[in-house]
Amino acid sequence: MIEISIRRMKIEDVPDVMNIDTLSFPAPWTKEIYEQELKKNNFAHYFVMTTDGKIIGYVGHWLVFDDAQITNIAVHPHYRGKRIGEKLFGFSLSYAFQHGAQKLSLEVRPSNDIAKNMYKKFGLKKGGIRKNYYPDNGEDAIVMWVELADIDFTKFQRD
Ligand SMILES: CC(C)(COP(=O)(O)OP(=O)(O)OC[C@H]1O[C@@H](n2cnc3c(N)ncnc32)[C@H](O)[C@@H]1OP(=O)(O)O)[C@@H](O)C(=O)NCCC(=O)NCCS
Repeated sequence: MIEISIRRMKIEDVPDVMNIDTLSFPAPWTKEIYEQELKKNNFAHYFVMTTDGKIIGYVGHWLVFDDAQITNIAVHPHYRGKRIGEKLFGFSLSYAFQHGAQKLSLEVRPSNDIAKNMYKKFGLKKGGIRKNYYPDNGEDAIVMWVELADIDFTKFQRD
């Protein structure tokens, strides 16, 4: 079991986060988007997960009053399948709930079975479809959401 911790993302973390982004998404975010999110967006909350000081995953949310949205979540490919994503996502849900969110939603590609499975584990349900949402291939997005008060967080606090 690897020792992990979660802390707020800093501007100096952006190159490492962009590296994970590039390994994870067909249309990774640019440095400018991260800088905008970290420096100018008061609704944005970004976190990195580290082991031995090395960034192995990250997650971003927008918290707008009682509504939370996940903007991005990814784990470095080398660390996938070890319940790291689940810890990161569980942290996000818990953080959003503790900061006043009642509902959390996100968009996911219909083809992304791994992410969909993880979200379903936490009780997220399919909401609507956003047609032609992803510019790289025109894939639709499934909106998934959950009422945060319905989640049993103790189920996800194991080591
Ligand atoms: C989605 C992602 C964050 C999951 O992180 P991870 O650390 O690999 O996932 P975990 O090991 O914590 O697994 C959590 C759950 O995800 C699902 N899952 C993980 N790997 C899976 C696989 N190979 N096949 C099917 N389901 C899988 C399972 O439901 C799993 O729970 P279980 O182990 O009890 O079956 C990671 O795969 C990733 O970074 N993917 C690329 C970026 C991405 O797609 N982000 C989501 C955008 S919406």
